[in-house]
Amino acid sequence: MNYEAKDYSRLIGMEGFSETLLKNHFTLYQGYVTNTNKLSDLLAAMLKEGKTGAPEYAELKRRFGFEFDGMRLHEYYFENLGGKAPLDKSGAVAKKLADACGSYEAWEQDFRATGAMRGIGWVVLYQDNITGGLFNQWINEHEVGHLAGCRPILVMDVFEHAFMIDYGLKRADYIEVFFKNINWEAVAKRLG
Ligand SMILES: [Fe+2]
Repeated sequence: MNYEAKDYSRLIGMEGFSETLLKNHFTLYQGYVTNTNKLSDLLAAMLKEGKTGAPEYAELKRRFGFEFDGMRLHEYYFENLGGKAPLDKSGAVAKKLADACGSYEAWEQDFRATGAMRGIGWVVLYQDNITGGLFNQWINEHEVGHLAGCRPILVMDVFEHAFMIDYGLKRADYIEVFFKNINWEAVAKRLG
């Protein structure tokens, strides 16, 4: 597999995110792309060589979810950052979020609270492709907790590398600045 890492250098200069933090984060993301390609090739070679019964094959299969999701979640995350305008509270996106939790404020409180949970991982606002329902979901590491048949609408990285360089242990300060930089246009495009 020869998937190429996307370029998110347009995000450099974003308020509240240092260049050092962003550049480190882009490098980490590129590592997931490299490893996804590598695992895909290794698994294809093992299949060809008739090694599918080997424990190494099983472990690489398990690992593929970690690397692939680590790659793709970073892409959703970087793509939903760099917004230039705040959310229009009377617009369609705010209305859908309000419908999901009773009010827009309740939705935001739930999303932030999910991000403040102890542990490393992600918060993903999902939309169910079957019912259109919205869920703020905790993803452990990269691959545990995804909702089958749901589409990521808004993704926030809460691994320590996403904020420690700039905010130390103050995850709430990072979540604050994340909200200031959400690209609501990207969110609107994902939301059905
Ligand atoms: Fe990350």
